[in-house]
Amino acid sequence: MPNPIDIRGRALLDVDQLRVPPSYQDDLEGILLTRGEIDSRVERLAEQLDAEYADAEGGLYPVCVLKGAMRFYGDLLQQLSIPFREGVVSASRYGLGGAEPDGDATIEFLRPEAIAGRDVLFVEDIVDEGRTLAQLREVVEAYDPRSVSAISLLDKRDNRVADVELEHIGFVIPDEFVVGYGLDYEEEYRGLNHLGVLDEAVL
Ligand code: IMP
Ligand code: MG
Repeated sequence: MPNPIDIRGRALLDVDQLRVPPSYQDDLEGILLTRGEIDSRVERLAEQLDAEYADAEGGLYPVCVLKGAMRFYGDLLQQLSIPFREGVVSASRYGLGGAEPDGDATIEFLRPEAIAGRDVLFVEDIVDEGRTLAQLREVVEAYDPRSVSAISLLDKRDNRVADVELEHIGFVIPDEFVVGYGLDYEEEYRGLNHLGVLDEAVL
């Protein structure tokens, strides 16, 4: 069923081949995914979820993993035909900015009592080492979900450390630091519409 698009070998597009805000251009090595490709893939992922959760007995409970997943979450849920309720969790391994994760994530569900009996679907922007998702999957069990699964727009699997399950994947990407479509570096670049690779010099 999961049939992700593997773009690890793909050449980057130049920033001047697409509309990229001038303030971002110098900081990007190039564009890895255009917004159009992201949108098309999100439509297909929503179709897959519609099929998979058509008879979800507990009721689908997609949980947005803040903050990077906000755009993906909003776009994905807008495309769903099946009923759902919405959950939110903050999970951050990055302290006050920086691209070097410093250990365990701090995890906080907005309304943990709403999880009991529901079919939880964690919605992630990107799974990198996999530690954040592994921790989320472990912590959520204490709140008695009926089932737990996860979807991520991006999968940086070459950098995986934790052996964690990921049931739905948009794109498998190379081990580069990416920004845009909600993903940030030190809270910047979330507003870039496409998905870009950050220049090493910025990191
Ligand atoms: P993991 O525990 O290494 O899988 O961490 C995943 C989290 O780290 C994601 O939810 C992002 O918030 C962040 N992250 C990992 N790689 C990137 C990246 O390339 N760009 C932006 N954020 C990233
Ligand atoms: Mg995240």
